[in-house]
Amino acid sequence: MKNPFDVLEQNSLNYKLTPISFREIFFIAEAPCDIYAQVDGLLKVVLHKKAEISTPVLKELLQKKLANLFVIEDDRNLLKLAQQDNLTSVTRSLSIGDPLEKARLQTNLLTLNMGYLYEDPTDDNNLNLQVQSAKNLATFLFNKPQIHEALYKEFIKQGHHYIFAQPFLSTLFLLGVMKNSRLYIDKDIELFFLTSYFKDIGMSAIPVEKYNDDHLTDDDKKLLASHPQLSVNILKGRVPLPPNHLKIIENHHIYSTLTNQMNLSSKDDPNNIFGFETMMISVMDTVAAMTTDRPFRKAESLYKSLDLIRLLIGEQYPQEFKLIVFYFKNFFKSL
Ligand SMILES: [Fe+2]
Repeated sequence: MKNPFDVLEQNSLNYKLTPISFREIFFIAEAPCDIYAQVDGLLKVVLHKKAEISTPVLKELLQKKLANLFVIEDDRNLLKLAQQDNLTSVTRSLSIGDPLEKARLQTNLLTLNMGYLYEDPTDDNNLNLQVQSAKNLATFLFNKPQIHEALYKEFIKQGHHYIFAQPFLSTLFLLGVMKNSRLYIDKDIELFFLTSYFKDIGMSAIPVEKYNDDHLTDDDKKLLASHPQLSVNILKGRVPLPPNHLKIIENHHIYSTLTNQMNLSSKDDPNNIFGFETMMISVMDTVAAMTTDRPFRKAESLYKSLDLIRLLIGEQYPQEFKLIVFYFKNFFKSL
């Protein structure tokens, strides 16, 4: 290597820099801080603070294979704040402009912010922002069922980590089935949307990287199995969800595709408040998980996932099962 000063500088950078995901510089007009990458083996600034970030700039970085980005650890917050400002402004202007484009942007920003929330689920400001944004999205999507399929397709294309993508996909399905059932008014659906969207926030107890392989330790598995309760602990008193909805979160796993465990409480169990809704939230979660890829397995067919749902609920909820099959067949047919 070059001169001793370079070596010292590189060592000190190595120590101060923290990795960011490439998508964290999407949707922002200028770099809120210096952004680094490894160029020919050396850490260098590839975007200076206030540099314009446009599609050609992003493409150029990708072409030069500079997708592994870093920022100085102390600057990370500036990036987060820039993305959160974005989310706030898109949330406020959701109904202006092309609905699909707006929903695409909103779901991407929400998913990015979900990542920040997992890093620190105690951050009240961020949780409030996430709740408010999800609420606005719920109303928006409730009134625009015609864009759901296209939005699903667009969202899948973004390639978010499944831990952050899964809550939205399962909640989009839930919204669709509930609306189709014509049993609920929009206000009910908004609450169930939030319930479903935040039900897995307790999974933030385990670092995201660990979900990339199937080799969670026994302790991790124990933590994972307790995520419904952890979610309730994180949300209780901090989000506008009534106690019954927190109860749904507590019981939201009738079946877990990660542990292959089933736990369907009986329909007339007095502890099973909102049995039908709890079942619906769990089933939508299962279908969304099975029909999408994971780092350690390929997606299953819709047929196979509906077959599992039939085994899980077919006998106890025959009418509801028909409704679910009808919904999904229509949904996937149009994709
Ligand atoms: Fe869950």
